[in-house]
Amino acid sequence: MHLRTCRTCNKKRYTVSHIRGINTSKYKMLSASPISTTFARSRRPSSVVSRVIEGTNTSTMQVSRLLAALSCICTAQAFLPRSLSAFPRTRMLSMMSAPPTSYSMADQPARFAKAKAEGNKRMLDTGSFYDPSYVKGKTVVITGGNRGLGLAITNELVKQGAKVIVTSRSPATIPGVERVISGIEVTDNACGTKLADALKGTKVDCLINNAGYFYEPVEKIDSLNFEEQMKMIDICAVGPLRVSAGLVNAGLLAPGARVIMITSQGGSISWRTTQNPTGHDYGHHMSKAAANMMGALLAQELKAKGISVVNLHPGFNKTDMTKKYAHIWEVEGAVDPEIGAQRVIHEIGLADMSRTGTFINCEDGLLIPW
Ligand SMILES: NC(=O)c1ccc[n+]([C@@H]2O[C@H](COP(=O)([O-])OP(=O)(O)OC[C@H]3O[C@@H](n4cnc5c(N)ncnc54)[C@H](OP(=O)(O)O)[C@@H]3O)[C@@H](O)[C@H]2O)c1
Repeated sequence: MHLRTCRTCNKKRYTVSHIRGINTSKYKMLSASPISTTFARSRRPSSVVSRVIEGTNTSTMQVSRLLAALSCICTAQAFLPRSLSAFPRTRMLSMMSAPPTSYSMADQPARFAKAKAEGNKRMLDTGSFYDPSYVKGKTVVITGGNRGLGLAITNELVKQGAKVIVTSRSPATIPGVERVISGIEVTDNACGTKLADALKGTKVDCLINNAGYFYEPVEKIDSLNFEEQMKMIDICAVGPLRVSAGLVNAGLLAPGARVIMITSQGGSISWRTTQNPTGHDYGHHMSKAAANMMGALLAQELKAKGISVVNLHPGFNKTDMTKKYAHIWEVEGAVDPEIGAQRVIHEIGLADMSRTGTFINCEDGLLIPW
């Protein structure tokens, strides 16, 4: 059995006794046994981990999966406010978020109509589920936090007591933030190192790759704009990689940190048959599919560091970017960015290692197929 260094405390070896109430000797017995596939998908990891530890279920999984689950526990705890880190471990475990198992609906007007018909509070009433308490005192860096959804997320994080560092291209004054680091053009290959240098060693709990661009005219086969396509891919997919690499390589993302990719449902290839029955919007949707791929690959690479990477569709928000769709805002459930920000912040709170590499719709908290 290979035991790793604890990613939370960086000192102790990983042992099961690290989790209160679990018998280490049973764990040693388990090390020779396969582990159940059930616990990774369980909504109740505490009971399943206990069951696995007791060796009652010995079907197919490897011990490394248990270590990964334990890592989730540690990193989930690392992200919580200090007041919560004193919680009993069992309570901690119950707060962990298993990834959703069902999928959101591709048909956006039908999704919104169904939510209204059913009185779906998760979709229609952020006040019924939103819990931002985890962000208090956390350091969050957000790209493009100077306007639109990024500014709304920034304002909400500030309101909830986070230390927010905004990056922007032009100088901006945003009340309550720790700093605005301007001159961060995400198409600049040096933007990641430039940002890391400007952070001067500040450890970051959460990086939100929010900056994005959607070329206004509809692109059809006879109206393609290749320069704009490359620009969208550069900003939406390569940009977040430049920024993320800058922070990771400078060692500014601590174990337990989260990298959030604000991508889009437009990046789902599976949903194109429903959402684009006649095609078009080549550059934008290609850029967001590439962004999803970037997030999926980064999630794999950062697993060993205990840093989660989650792709989020932020929902339909009434911003400059979607003004061209103002005529469908009401039928498709577009919300003010202040509401969209709460939905995003709620999903960031759930974005621990158990969800790394997933693609989630902030409107309903469900998975979006690739
Ligand atoms: N609104 C929606 O319904 C919706 C839906 C799905 C996904 N999204 C995604 O959510 C994110 C925010 O969207 P939004 O609606 O708030 O868009 P927005 O109002 O157009 O704001 C875009 C932000 O990105 C920044 N940005 C653009 N190009 C940049 C570059 N080259 N370098 C650095 N920053 C750059 C902008 O900075 P400047 O002020 O300097 O231009 C601005 O802060 C985007 O990634 C978008 O694709 C939005």
